[in-house]
Amino acid sequence: MRLVLLGPPGAGKGTQAARLAAKYRIPHIATGDMFRAHAARGTPLGRQAKGHMDSGALVPDEVVIAMVRERLAEPDARRGFVLDGFPRTVPQAEALEELTEIDAVVNLQVGPEVIIERQAGRRSCPRGHVYNLRTHPPRRPGVCDVDGEPLVQREDDKPEVVRQRLREYEEKTKPLVDYYHRKSLLVTVHGEGSVDEVFYRITEALEARL
Ligand code: AP5
Repeated sequence: MRLVLLGPPGAGKGTQAARLAAKYRIPHIATGDMFRAHAARGTPLGRQAKGHMDSGALVPDEVVIAMVRERLAEPDARRGFVLDGFPRTVPQAEALEELTEIDAVVNLQVGPEVIIERQAGRRSCPRGHVYNLRTHPPRRPGVCDVDGEPLVQREDDKPEVVRQRLREYEEKTKPLVDYYHRKSLLVTVHGEGSVDEVFYRITEALEARL
């Protein structure tokens, strides 16, 4: 199972990708999480990515592609993977095609009001576990259920940065919907409703297709 999850910021890609990875026993490869992990460790790649991420801009293609190339070469990715947040531009999609084959691209469709509400309520722990104050709160307020780390709001979830991320999505990532439709890889799924409902729709659609 080699999957790509596509959708605007806050559509629920990370939430659904984690579930798909567990169900199909494949690695969840999230470029945003990889950059945040580098930034937290203060690596040169992390410092480079952080400047772009904090302003809501995309990290340059060549930087992302090199990181994904390395990750897909690791042994656990041989059996399949779910890519979350990559590709995000046509050059990234072309580079991915040279690296590997893809079985399906799930496009999560979510309206702007739901996106804004989901992002405003998102809280994450430094290890990448994601909660939502309204829809998926932690058992103890402000503390991760899994590792006990304090939960924080992502720098790029501030309203002005969210607006810039949405502009980047419209301009650079949305063209991938047509790109993958032309290649007959696109599986469009309604991304509103509960996490369980969306997951059910995705797995039904994938199993009907693959
Ligand atoms: P990244 O981390 O990939 O951010 P994103 O695509 O903007 O996506 P998000 O993480 O905001 O949202 P999501 O769709 O995963 O939603 P989530 O599941 O968290 O990228 C960040 C930055 O890194 C980019 O801006 C860029 O700078 C850089 N970058 C990364 N990849 C790059 C690339 N390929 N090229 C260039 N630059 C790159 O859900 C959101 C909230 O909603 C959560 O609180 C969740 O609990 C809640 N929720 C989810 N589903 C539901 C549901 N069904 N019902 C109720 N609540 C829900």
